[in-house]
Amino acid sequence: MVAAMSVARKTILHVVGARPNYMKIAPLMDALRDVEAIRQVLVNTGQHYDEAMAKAFIRELSLPMPDRDLEVGSASHAVQTANVMVRFEEACLQEKPDLVVVVGDVNSTMAATIVAAKLLIPVAHVEAGLRSFDRTMPEEINRVVTDRLADILLTPSPDGDENLLREGVPAERIHLVGNIMIDTLFRHLPHATLDRVADRVNVKDGCYAVLTLHRPSNVDVRETFEGILSAISSIAADMPVVFPVHPRTQARVKEFGLTDLMKGVQVTPPLGYIDFLSLTSHAKIVLTDSGGLQEESTALGIPCLTLRENTERPITVTQGTNTIVGTNGAKILAGYRSAVRGEVPKRRPELWDGRTAGRIRAVLERFLFG
Ligand code: UD1
Repeated sequence: MVAAMSVARKTILHVVGARPNYMKIAPLMDALRDVEAIRQVLVNTGQHYDEAMAKAFIRELSLPMPDRDLEVGSASHAVQTANVMVRFEEACLQEKPDLVVVVGDVNSTMAATIVAAKLLIPVAHVEAGLRSFDRTMPEEINRVVTDRLADILLTPSPDGDENLLREGVPAERIHLVGNIMIDTLFRHLPHATLDRVADRVNVKDGCYAVLTLHRPSNVDVRETFEGILSAISSIAADMPVVFPVHPRTQARVKEFGLTDLMKGVQVTPPLGYIDFLSLTSHAKIVLTDSGGLQEESTALGIPCLTLRENTERPITVTQGTNTIVGTNGAKILAGYRSAVRGEVPKRRPELWDGRTAGRIRAVLERFLFG
């Protein structure tokens, strides 16, 4: 704990922008709230802007209202990244932070990191070191660039440390702190009851599947998307499938004329954090191409089939409930059959214990105040 009177006050500028960021920043801002020597500023880039994708999360996770909203919105990768950079530079010049905190691997994460690094402002990256080794994935580029430039690399699992060391990052910059998303998950799990979503879905506890899909590689290519949805409609004939649909995915369903394949599926708009946790925590199985959901299902002990060819979160496979099944329909169905029959391993990676924010706070206090 840092005494307020003994040191000059320091400013931390936290960056959020897209849906998976909010649950990673919330516990950290909360953990730093009572440190009088730290002024916290929240910058929302506005990469996501729909009520259901952004603002609902800010409210529900008890984040403070952002001090600055950059309102960049959707665009190509180059334009979106450039817009964050231009507007974030302005925010940094005005707020003069002593440290910028970025989370995850979205375009806003990388854009803010490049800006801060060029202004010689130290950057802490929460969720550092994850690698899919697949550069066709935009997030992999964001991860590599962010970690190359960040000064404090806060990793969720030992594979992150190994990747960074292999890339030549000095060991003293790397801190294994655990998975901060699981702090948020544990905090809200007691409120995650199925009756919260009973007005939108019709399911029985432990007897349904939850599906999410939004990766461009899965939904922007018609054949791939159609193959996945065909497998899903076979699963839906066996067990109810609930599918909260991301705006990108919704647009592709219409564009490719795939509504027929969704007929047996319970479709909802994107859900808020606690409503979605209510659904996943009571499900029999999760099918997804999301990174965060691979981790959340591992923490919940619920089988997860990952509809991708690789993962940047291998610990969810080696020490969790995740199986990488790819996007081939026959493989998805085979994975489904064996997962619903099989035993679920009851284990959780070390340091996914709900106390990651406290460990990050300790690292940041040491960095700022010595
Ligand atoms: C982004 C992240 C991805 C993350 C995902 C979570 C990058 C490269 N990708 O992907 O890592 O897993 O967020 O959702 O940063 N749209 C809306 N309303 C919104 C936001 C998006 O309608 O509030 C639509 C727009 O048509 C937009 C499309 O969704 O063009 C894609 O949004 P974008 O932010 O580019 O990427 P995501 O696919 O959401």
